[in-house]
Amino acid sequence: MTLPQTGLNTGSHDLPVTPALAAFMGTRWAPTPLPADRRVPGHDRFPGRRARLGAAFPGERLIVPAGRLKVRCNDLDHRFRPHSAYVWLTGLTGEDQADHVLVLEPAGPQGHEPVLYLRPRSPRDGGEFYRDRRYGEFWVGRRPDLAEAARLTGVRTEHLDDLGKLLAGPQPPTRVLAGTDARVDDATGRPGAHAGADGELAAVLSELRLVKDTWEVDQLQLAVDHTVTGFEDVVRALPTALRHHRGERWIEGVFDLRARAEGNGSAYTTIAASGAHACVLHWIRNDGPLDPDSLLLLDAGVETDTLYAADVTRTLPLSGTFTPVQRQAYDLVLAAQSAGIAALRPGARFRDFHRAAMRVIAEGLADWGVLRIPAEQALADDNGLYRRYTLCGSGHMLGLDYHDCARSRADRYLDGVLEEGMVLTVEPGLYLQPDDETLPVELRGLGIRIEDDLVITAEGARLMSGALPRTAGDVEAWMAALLE
Ligand code: GLY
Ligand code: MN
Repeated sequence: MTLPQTGLNTGSHDLPVTPALAAFMGTRWAPTPLPADRRVPGHDRFPGRRARLGAAFPGERLIVPAGRLKVRCNDLDHRFRPHSAYVWLTGLTGEDQADHVLVLEPAGPQGHEPVLYLRPRSPRDGGEFYRDRRYGEFWVGRRPDLAEAARLTGVRTEHLDDLGKLLAGPQPPTRVLAGTDARVDDATGRPGAHAGADGELAAVLSELRLVKDTWEVDQLQLAVDHTVTGFEDVVRALPTALRHHRGERWIEGVFDLRARAEGNGSAYTTIAASGAHACVLHWIRNDGPLDPDSLLLLDAGVETDTLYAADVTRTLPLSGTFTPVQRQAYDLVLAAQSAGIAALRPGARFRDFHRAAMRVIAEGLADWGVLRIPAEQALADDNGLYRRYTLCGSGHMLGLDYHDCARSRADRYLDGVLEEGMVLTVEPGLYLQPDDETLPVELRGLGIRIEDDLVITAEGARLMSGALPRTAGDVEAWMAALLE
């Protein structure tokens, strides 16, 4: 005889459970409470964040789900990472946050009461803890119980199963964060019912995250510091990678090892591009060999355990020394990046650093005879012809997401003004495609990006990734020292 399987995420090949085993499994487990003083890292800043969000939507119910598990195959899910807005509002970052939902419930004329709807620790009087492959404690690890989660976060907690009751009851005006609302739809039985109601909530949440507090800047610095170590690991691994038939994969693996060992992992899929692969902006196939005469573009960042991202790129000569033509192109990108960095200060427009970098690129391309109209004309007319060779914007906000605050409205981000505490990348590049007939042959197939992370300060900007070399000479000396 077997127990009913209702509600358990079991696999079809699981062995049946006898009543005797079920009864035995339900007995004699010692209590294992979490330490009573444990709090989420940075716990004192989350009430203020929730209050600022609530103040933007008085009288409205705000629903911010962590997101859902995604099946990788059959009974195996992809590794889960909670939505950054949920992380920013709760401090909860773990894989155990799948399906959880933060609700800001209108309370009083202006305020909100936060409530977390959670799946608590598997009870020991049912089958979940040892039979449920998706949520069982013996399969995926222990979750806090509701009282523990309330202590960790300082937020009232309710069982996830009770979310449906809330949503079936009296409905104040309600907004659900975009892209994460499946659990909420399950609870209401109205798939997609909330779609479209949430654009403004997503925008406000993005905009509230534009300026980082000092704790966040410290987390981002930690992400950068681990990233620097990962880049050093990669240089040390170059002799092995150069011998491997898929050296790009070797590089990816070396960086990702460091990212996983020191933090939650890589903040995005590592780009390891040798030679002309570097002309593909997001080359993540990483399936090529390393050509020792070419450049390696490594674009990689560590995500901390608190889920803050670094995003850094260096372009390295695999021989250890830039050839004259590689150096000429590298120096132009470096000059563009330096001009971009020099344009960062509070009050500058977000577009200013991009414009400063693009002026240098356009002038350089005109000097080389690649751009066949004067740079001034290309820039003044904004006809964009130089963009054939540089392709994308020169940077973006950085934070919990490596392309952070992406739902912000244009007047706060793309057309907005820089403020102290914003963290961003400056990353101009030259992508000289191998099949571009407008280019002299010796320039074809060169892809170069130099990307650093900076925090806007009262005076200008602080380079967070300055532990990595930027000039061609410093890159060569750094590589030589690591390869000694
Ligand atoms: N570092 C590449 C990007 O920001 O898309
Ligand atoms: Mn970037």
